[in-house]
Amino acid sequence: MLKFSNLIFAIENSIATITINREDKLNALNTATIEELRLAVRVIYDDTEIRAGIITGIGGKSFVAGADISEVAQLNELNGRKYAEIGQEVFRMIENAPKPIIAAINGYALGGGCELAMSCHLRIAVQTAKFGQPEVNLGVIPGYGGTQRLSQLIGKSKALELLLTGDIIDAEQAADLGLINHVTATQEQLWEKTHELLNKILSKAPRALEMVIQSVNAAYEPGQNGYQTEANGFANCCATQDFKEGTSAFLEKRPPKFTGN
Ligand code: COA
Repeated sequence: MLKFSNLIFAIENSIATITINREDKLNALNTATIEELRLAVRVIYDDTEIRAGIITGIGGKSFVAGADISEVAQLNELNGRKYAEIGQEVFRMIENAPKPIIAAINGYALGGGCELAMSCHLRIAVQTAKFGQPEVNLGVIPGYGGTQRLSQLIGKSKALELLLTGDIIDAEQAADLGLINHVTATQEQLWEKTHELLNKILSKAPRALEMVIQSVNAAYEPGQNGYQTEANGFANCCATQDFKEGTSAFLEKRPPKFTGN
């Protein structure tokens, strides 16, 4: 098992769980944590035993309370740009992962925490979780894709309101806005719901899942033709044994048995 200083990385039943592990700092993301996140996500890409990922935070209070403000405070114009670009690169890796990654949001998802959650494919939060992009309170803006993904998920008007006011909202409000997919009453149910949803997704053909992610993401990539990506993805699936299995199973009135081939 991989050992990290700021993360716990575990694999169980083909699901890799990345737990941000800086509880005394409410799991704030410092540079070292971002670099470890990059390595952990790389493993999700490369390890053929892993079929999906979960990102969560340690403890009952915080998912991630933002970028580490003690580091942010030291930035200047030159290294500030680099700092943002590195975080964007890692979060883009999560967004473009060929396997579904769910954010299990166990508490505060503020600033970089909200951005991390938004880079995942789906988001489930406990009722006590809080969301927001409070960077304007620090005299700065989100740097890890928040201005882009928040607008994509909840629309420009509501995104601008949250970004300009720095307001913090609760999980029910986040669900109403479409920022998150589901809310659970307890931390225990957060875990159950996350696994229930992932297990449903993992009963589908892996290549189809990968092509769905790629095609949906293409809609938000300037310069990409999403319809073309979709047609390519469709063709790609048609070449798999799982496609033959899925269609045969339907016609034979039996459940499909997908193998990932
Ligand atoms: N960066 C660095 N340290 C952070 C942090 C962050 N984003 N968020 C929390 N912490 C640290 C606090 O400094 C404190 O450390 P200390 O015990 O060494 O003083 C510890 O985590 C606990 O936080 P604290 O503020 O005492 O908890 P709280 O329950 O009173 O408040 C929050 C919780 C989330 C409301 C508050 O911590 C907060 O506003 N955090 C910053 C949120 C933010 O602006 N994020 C965007 C950053 S770009």
